[in-house]
Amino acid sequence: MAVTFTLNGKAQTVEVDPQMPLLWVLRDTLNMTGTKFGCGMALCGACTVHINGEASRSCIMPISAVSGKNVTTIEGLSADGSHPVQQAWMEEDVPQCGYCQSGQIMSAVALLSKKPKPSDAEIDDFMQGNICRCGTYQRIRKAIHRAADLQSAKPKSA
Ligand code: FES
Ligand code: FES
Repeated sequence: MAVTFTLNGKAQTVEVDPQMPLLWVLRDTLNMTGTKFGCGMALCGACTVHINGEASRSCIMPISAVSGKNVTTIEGLSADGSHPVQQAWMEEDVPQCGYCQSGQIMSAVALLSKKPKPSDAEIDDFMQGNICRCGTYQRIRKAIHRAADLQSAKPKSA
């Protein structure tokens, strides 16, 4: 079945089983490996992308469900790592092994689009579905505050 959707701003058509999860399509069909597989059961957040601007678990999202929608992956945030959330992640040296971090960043971007200046409690509440085996939660929280400052300084940044 052909499914057409918008991926990082460009029209994309794939010929796959309509039940194939979006994560598989991204990684195996389109060779976009920035989005990670962790649990495959919507429990860890490693596979987080945006669908029509909402943080979504791509491991449980059948490709047929994204037909006609806008999908953004970590590759779509910026071409050069210049998105304020990516900048903040670098400034705060957030990653340890790094495996969970693209999902963490995609969730953080979604949070900041809804709440430009989130409190610690709002960060913890929104980010609770993104698990980090390395325990980088303190740095993640700090980086989200930093990104909020960067975004308010550069409100037009992508
Ligand atoms: S791989 Fe999707 S939530 Fe874990
Ligand atoms: S940095 Fe290793 S799992 Fe999060």
